[in-house]
Formats: sequence, structure tokens, C-alpha cells
Amino acid sequence: VDIDKSNSIVTRSRTGNGTSVRTCSTSQPSQPPVHRSSQNFDEMIKRRHLQAKKSILVEVNSRYVFHDLCEYCQQFGYVKNAIHYRINNEKEVFIFEFENNEAVKNLLTQCSYPEDDEIVPVHSRLLLFGSEALNHDSSCQTLFESVNPPTQAQILKELLEARNVSEQMIKLHQSEQLSDLGSRLRFLICSQLEEALTGMFPNCQVFPFGSSVNGFGKNFCDLDMILSLNTVQNNPTSRLKFQTKKAFANDRMQTQRTLETVGDILQNFVPGIAQVQRILQARVPILKFHHIPTGIYCDLSISNKCFLNLSIFFMDFTLWRELPGQSKLLYLCGELDPRIRPLVYTVRKWARENHLTHDVPGRWISNFSLSLMVLFFLQARSQPLLLPLMDLVHMAGKSDKTLPDDMENTLQKGLWCPPSENTEDLEILLKEFFLFYEKFNFKERGLSLVTGHSMVKPDYSPLYIENPLEQELNVSKNVSSEEVERFSTCIRTALWKLELNNVKNNHDLWGILKLFDPKAAENQNDPQTVKGFQVSALFNGVNDSNTLVYKDGLNSFVYR
Ligand code: CTP
Ligand code: MG
Repeated sequence: VDIDKSNSIVTRSRTGNGTSVRTCSTSQPSQPPVHRSSQNFDEMIKRRHLQAKKSILVEVNSRYVFHDLCEYCQQFGYVKNAIHYRINNEKEVFIFEFENNEAVKNLLTQCSYPEDDEIVPVHSRLLLFGSEALNHDSSCQTLFESVNPPTQAQILKELLEARNVSEQMIKLHQSEQLSDLGSRLRFLICSQLEEALTGMFPNCQVFPFGSSVNGFGKNFCDLDMILSLNTVQNNPTSRLKFQTKKAFANDRMQTQRTLETVGDILQNFVPGIAQVQRILQARVPILKFHHIPTGIYCDLSISNKCFLNLSIFFMDFTLWRELPGQSKLLYLCGELDPRIRPLVYTVRKWARENHLTHDVPGRWISNFSLSLMVLFFLQARSQPLLLPLMDLVHMAGKSDKTLPDDMENTLQKGLWCPPSENTEDLEILLKEFFLFYEKFNFKERGLSLVTGHSMVKPDYSPLYIENPLEQELNVSKNVSSEEVERFSTCIRTALWKLELNNVKNNHDLWGILKLFDPKAAENQNDPQTVKGFQVSALFNGVNDSNTLVYKDGLNSFVYR
């Protein structure tokens, strides 16, 4: 294994056919290519799932043990990819992906426990590399490049230096989108949970959904997961049957009981998991926890359904309308035009920085609802950038335009439509998005992505967004009228800011950065320690030496 001078870690291995070289890019991935006909959601899920099963996560004292660690691991099999990251600027971690599962199994049989009497002797793929092997290879120092996502300071610098608003939006998307590392870590957590439960439930699977897989995820977004205890179809003809215990007749009670027990297992036995909270009385009972070696916050729910395999999971008739179906729908929509994701990311960032969205659910708008609002707006352009879902179903080859049965088939095939004739750039689209919702009659009308038109609201919810896959439901039922009012107020402010200052200038926040600059009361007293883009007090004009200073506790830079 070598590390080359470019932004790549290179792994080499001698095989019977000679030397094979694979590289793992350590820089941010470039914008994903546009796919018109897309089956690749299922493929992506499957690939990531298998990749996670072939990977281990190793905490080290110093990244400079890399050569030692590689050498040690290669005795068990070919290391296909090696990725390094740091967590909280303290822990150093490597992910090693092997060529096959056998190597991981071999390696695990050779692992031992730390010499400490007070441990629970659990097997997992979260490992430590002994410090006695520390061979500080100084040649690594100049060569090593790790894959930590860009800091807020770096993103801010990029956006300040962009040429125009459209470029700012593209850069924002590129910097914030979930990286390869982010996806690997999320699937690794799912895989770790599966392994923890496989003794009793050998056919269990943990499926990620939501922003971790729907193409609108950010680095540091939470991880939503569903646990299914059995993914194998029962064989009623077998004469040997398992002895089992009776489940509660009430599904909800069974879910609560199972989650409670899983919560205990995670808290007491599974390494890396902390702060387990059992939210069992919610409409959808969940476990919340923090996965420390990855820094990811997780929500785990349970499905009582039985799934055959991954692709059926996403297609299963009884389930496709539920959460994973929506993740797939959003993913496929995002692939139809390269402007869709940068626009969604910008709107989500604007909402976040203006406190319209929050980490926890509540009476405010969710990121999921916001994404649907952007898609609806794109359908409503005079020259649509996205077709109504019923038309996409039609284009997939169905004559009957009723949803959702045909949507199931459509999702299975992947969305397809000819390129849009809309040529508006991102800057125009952003402004039009605000104008569209400034005028939208939220009091009387709701949004239907199925028809691509607004509809008379069927109830008195302040915000009504028809669930595309379960049309009788409102995705934004939770949102209060005060929040809708705040949304409208923030839109008017955004329009005013865009009008006022959307051209690049060298000594102030400009373009979308203005939108991310709320007058956050908590920041006004202490401009030196503001976080993220909440830099209003600091960036209010230019300071004496004609410089802008950014600090967030970890990073700082001066922009002249
Ligand atoms: N969901 C839903 N109805 C809602 C809210 C959420 O069906 N009212 C589903 C969506 O499929 C959503 C998923 O639950 O993608 C996860 O919800 P959430 O974590 O709130 O949204 P994400 O899309 O994951 O966005 P993020 O976590 O980045 O805020
Ligand atoms: Mg989420």
C-alpha cells in the first residue's frame, strides 16, 4: 500500500495476474452526473450495503501508523480502499475496505480484547490498533491527505470567491453534499447494528432512509434507519419449524417492546454507541443514539414487515409508499436535472440559518417538506423543469395515470423524461422560488406533486403538502400557522436581500451569503465566536484593517 502525492490513498496488491492498483479519492466528489433513466438507486443501496460488510473501522493514536496497520491487515486479505478521517479534531480513524468478507472474518478471529477486566467481551468491526506498533513514519507526514469534509470556514471562503450567485449555489452543494466517506460511515453503522443482532435474528437487516440516501443529505446529517428482524420469506412447506415465542397481538406494543430491548443491547453491549434514548410513545416509536466513532446521530425505528431482499424492500407493495419509497422518489427526482440539488441545498441552508428548520421535529417545517416545495415549484415554472409525477408515470410507459400503483412500477424502472427546455440559471430559479412562495395562497391552497398543480386544501392544516406516495396524507401536518407566517416573512426578507446585494463585491457578504445571515440575537453579543454562517455581527461591513475575520472555535481565516 502506498500513499501518493495527489489527493489519493493508493492501495496496491500483488495478485496472480500482477499488481493491481486502486485509488480512493480523498477530495470532495465532484457533482454527480445526470442520469435520465435511473435504476441506480437500488444499485447504490446494494453496493454500499456490501461495501460496509467488507469494511472495518480502526481507531489509531496517530495517522502515521498507516503503513504498519496496512501491512498488518494485508495478511488477512487484499485491502481495496483505505480512508482516514478525524473526529472532533481528536480521534484518528481509518476505514479499511477489503476485497471480500472472508478477509474480515479472518481478521476478526485474530483480534483480542484490551487487557482490562472491566469490559464486555463483544465482537464488532470497531477496532483499535495497538500503540506498541507505533512507527511514526515521517514520510507519511507530507504525503497524507485525509477526507474530512470542508469546514464552515472553507465553505464560506469558497462562496465569497465564487464568480456569481449560480456558482455559489453549485459550490454550496458540492461542499455540503454527503461525501463518499459520509455514506460509507452510515452504511457501516447499519451493518454494525445488524451484526449485533444476528445471533438471534440471522436474517435481520437495517436499512437507511431519509437524507442519508435520498440525494439531499449533508455531511453531518442524521441517520434514519429501519430495522427489520426477518428479511427472508418463510417456507411453509418445511417440516422442521423454529420454536418461537408469541408476539403481542398489538403491533405497536410489540414494536415498543422490541425497541426497548434493542435499546438495552445497544446501550450495554455495542461499542461506539452512547446516549441511547427510547422514544416509545411517539406515533412512530424510535430509538435515538449517538454513534461516537463516526460522530453521527441516529434514529432507529422498526418495521414488522417481512422483506425478501433489498430491491423488494424498496418495491414491496405494502411498503413502497412508506419511507424508503419516498427516499427513492426524491433521489430519482434529484437526478433528473443538475440544477435541482443545488437549489434544494440552498433553500435548505437558507431555512436552517433563518431558524425555519431545526434538528428536532416540532411545529416547524421539515427539510423533507422543503425539498418537496422546491420540486413543486420546479413543476410550476411556465417552462417546467420537472414534470408532474403523473406525467413521469405516463412516460415510464403506463397509459393509466392513476397513482400509486403505477408509481410503484415507475419507481422500479427509474424515472425518465426528456431534458427540460427550461434554461433558467440557478440564480433566477432561486429568486423565482421566493417569488412563487411569496404569492402562494397557503390559506386556501395545498401542493400536489402528483398533478403539479395547487389544490384546494382538504382540511385546515396551515401548510398542506400532499404526500406523493400516500395521497390522503399531508406531509407537513405538523406545521403551525405561526411557522407558515414566519416562512412568508423570511421569504420577503430574502427577496429584499437578493434585490439589494446579489452582485459579487470584495468587502462584504454577497449573494446567497446574505441569505444565510440572520439577525440572530444570540450572536450579536459575541461576534468572535459565532458558528457556521451566522456571521452577521462580524461581517457587518468591513473592519478597520479592511479585512473580514471568520472564527468558529476550531477554524479561522481572514478574508481581505
Ligand atoms: N418523512 C415523512 N413525512 C414527514 C417527515 C419525514 O414521510 N412529515 C420521511 C421522509 O422520507 C424523510 C424521512 O422520513 O426523508 C426522514 O425524515 P427527516 O429525518 O425529518 O428528514 P430527512 O429527509 O432525513 O432530512 P434531514 O434529516 O436532513 O433533516
Ligand atoms: Mg433525517
